[in-house]
Amino acid sequence: MKEIHNFSILERRQLGSRYFALVLGHGGRMQPVAPGQFVEVLVEGSRDVMLRRPISVHDVDEEKGTMTLLIQIVGNGTRKLAELGVGDKLNVVYPLGHGFTSDLRPQTSALLVGGGAGIAPLLHLSKVLKAKSVSCTILLGGRTAELIPVRDEFNPYGRLCIATDDGSMGHKGLVVEHPAFSESYDMIYTCGPTPMMKAVARSAAERGIRCEVSLENMMACGVGACLCCVTDTDDGHRCVCKDGPVFDISTMRKWYEK
Ligand SMILES: Cc1cc2nc3c(=O)[nH]c(=O)nc-3n(C[C@H](O)[C@H](O)[C@H](O)COP(=O)(O)OP(=O)(O)OC[C@H]3O[C@@H](n4cnc5c(N)ncnc54)[C@H](O)[C@@H]3O)c2cc1C
Ligand code: FES
Repeated sequence: MKEIHNFSILERRQLGSRYFALVLGHGGRMQPVAPGQFVEVLVEGSRDVMLRRPISVHDVDEEKGTMTLLIQIVGNGTRKLAELGVGDKLNVVYPLGHGFTSDLRPQTSALLVGGGAGIAPLLHLSKVLKAKSVSCTILLGGRTAELIPVRDEFNPYGRLCIATDDGSMGHKGLVVEHPAFSESYDMIYTCGPTPMMKAVARSAAERGIRCEVSLENMMACGVGACLCCVTDTDDGHRCVCKDGPVFDISTMRKWYEK
């Protein structure tokens, strides 16, 4: 069930110059959040930022009743959020959207491909898959090592592979050029820049591997009312906020072939 809540910021971590993480809690039980679901946060104290900003849930600690957001500073809203510190409040609507399918059978294999801020939802996903005994390969990409804001957090949940355009860490090149990408998997999940996700989806379709993509279209209402986040799918127009953000590529040929 969707909830609107004033969370407290329990912890703030700066991750290089472009990213930061906020650990949020409200002292009570949180609604369950599936991997790939997102929240809409209110940016207070800025006249330029009227609409809530959609942010994926990066991590969930059910015992402590906390969730973590990983945020990239790109514009006025995220710059304002970056000014928040421990003890400040953040008004959040959650959980929103339709997340990743995580009910894979034990001993199956999954590849999780993330780029930039698209890495955010993959940590929660990798934890859930690990708990189901799914063997995960986590392949993270960025232009440089500094633009891959979190890495080591993934280590307990699978095999971690890195690709950077400039070779500053891991394989030099794109994620789809990393040797781990062309191995065989039962399932591929991806979130990140659209050209990266389309390349991943095209390859998965060619290889007959089931694949889900998490789209990051611009959003306003976040609940399917304003139609500003619509994407074209093989089944017609769909709201990314309500029908997604995660879509199975079996309905996305039009999108990834464009
Ligand atoms: C479902 C969903 C989950 C998301 N999860 C995360 C997350 O976990 N961490 C994170 O850092 N970001 C995430 N984003 C992207 C985030 O919502 C935007 O970066 C943010 O709204 C930008 O707000 P702003 O006011 O700082 O920038 P604005 O001033 O609104 O825009 C600044 C620049 O960023 C671009 N931009 C704005 N929104 C998006 C977007 N959705 N996708 C691509 N470019 C955009 C604009 O075109 C512009 O060039 C997510 C987006 C969606 C739809
Ligand atoms: S953001 Fe309003 S319909 Fe999706």
